[in-house]
Amino acid sequence: MTQTTDSFLRSFRTDPAAPRVPAPGTALPFTPSAPRTVTTPNATGTVRFPDGFLWGAATAAYQVEGAAHEDGREDSVWDVFAKVPGAVLNQEDGEVACDQYHRYPADVALMKDLGIKAYRFSTSWSRVIPGGREVNPAGLAYYDRLVDELLGAGILPWLTLYHWDLPQAIEAESNGWVNRDTAYRFRDYAVTMHEAIGDRVDVWTTLNEPWCAAFLGYTGGQHAPGRQSREDGLAAAHHLSLAHGLAVQALRERAPEANLGITLNFEVEDPLDPDDPADIDAARRLDGGFTRIFADPILRGAYPADVLEDVREYGLEQHIKDGDLEIISTPIDSLGVNYYHGNAVSARPPERSLDGGAPVSRPSSNPFPAGDGAYTHPRGLPVTDQNWEVQPEGLTRLLLRLQQDYTGPRGIALYVTENGSAYDDVPGPDGFVDDQDRLEFIDVHLRAVKDAIDEGADVRGYFGWSLLDNYEWAWGYGKRFGLVRVDYETQERTVKASGRWYGQVARANAVPERPARPDDDSKAVPQA
Ligand code: FCB
Repeated sequence: MTQTTDSFLRSFRTDPAAPRVPAPGTALPFTPSAPRTVTTPNATGTVRFPDGFLWGAATAAYQVEGAAHEDGREDSVWDVFAKVPGAVLNQEDGEVACDQYHRYPADVALMKDLGIKAYRFSTSWSRVIPGGREVNPAGLAYYDRLVDELLGAGILPWLTLYHWDLPQAIEAESNGWVNRDTAYRFRDYAVTMHEAIGDRVDVWTTLNEPWCAAFLGYTGGQHAPGRQSREDGLAAAHHLSLAHGLAVQALRERAPEANLGITLNFEVEDPLDPDDPADIDAARRLDGGFTRIFADPILRGAYPADVLEDVREYGLEQHIKDGDLEIISTPIDSLGVNYYHGNAVSARPPERSLDGGAPVSRPSSNPFPAGDGAYTHPRGLPVTDQNWEVQPEGLTRLLLRLQQDYTGPRGIALYVTENGSAYDDVPGPDGFVDDQDRLEFIDVHLRAVKDAIDEGADVRGYFGWSLLDNYEWAWGYGKRFGLVRVDYETQERTVKASGRWYGQVARANAVPERPARPDDDSKAVPQA
């Protein structure tokens, strides 16, 4: 372990000597909870976080790096998908993105100035092993430089190995994640990365949001590689989980002291009518196909029986070989939690729907293999610029559920590895963005995190999505999530009001008292 990161790690690493409670191996039934209506002491006033709480910002390789065909990098599935007519808004791609490949020293300096303590970034498999063939030393050298720059600035590198940019050759020539062999190739890539920078990187996340990679990529067709098959999505999901487990085993063997984990995305599915069995079943099916299909194998060592039943006709079980669940449930230290919003779910279609997807012309399918007849309904909550409802109390409930059902019994720490919002930022005449809506979004979600901590969830850090405005997948550059504005013409960075505020929160380890806003009525967010 390096000296620079040691002080951070000591405060949050799971004690390797602590006994690991074995996974019970049996799945839990879906038990809906109800929106919280209580106002806690954290709702207003200054809210302090536990000592050592880690304050970070997140990005992903394809969304920020650019240099997509430089120094030996070759196409990933996203480079190819972005060119498919109608797949991405304005057919935009990550060729240049935020040009972080060339501008990383300035971006690291910016984080240091702001007071950000950890940078969650991803490495690009397509840069490191282009075409899935041989290791590209120039690609590895980039991450070597980036990590040194971060350590030099006293910022903890929080590395994610896969944020959706599979080498296109593995997709085209070997059937991508539908092929079991891709899981083993991922393990080899993980080892390659560790051989190169494992002496300086202590936190390793295997995958970001395998749900999106599997089901938006292979079933819904909204993401690369754009396939629309329920069978392929389920095969991809299992092989992604297997890839995670194989990588954890290999990394653990190389670095017993490392902090290993995975980041999953979560929604909180509430039955629209909690007394209607059809609504409860619709919520159960979405919860199963979103949360439990990954959380149960990884954290409890078994697929949920109801999920297996829901998707029986699509062949998931033929991919589950003897021993797979032991590999997939190899103990980890941290669970990364990405949370943006929850849903009210019903068996009845809504009169008016809230479409949170990108307005693209390429036809797509329902990403949930068992989601037919399950509909989400708007609840009248405020929405972000992407029509995502703002629901901070959902985060409190989610963290408490994870603690109780998944991570607590195994001694695994929780980190919120993504949370944030797209708003239609309007720069003032001087270029400054006074993004009070984003600032308030983060404020209410941090208060919701503190509620969960106060009620027993072992949450040890928070990463804002995102450090920079960046390439928002099927939305192209049309949605801005950054704490820092990026002018895509000039690549100029301007810290937004939310970024300044977030930096102060990180330095103080506390959310300051919430100032009243003139338009508080229209924007008011229900309090956790
Ligand atoms: C998450 C992704 C991240 C970003 C945010 C808005 O699902 O992990 O790359 O696009 O959503």
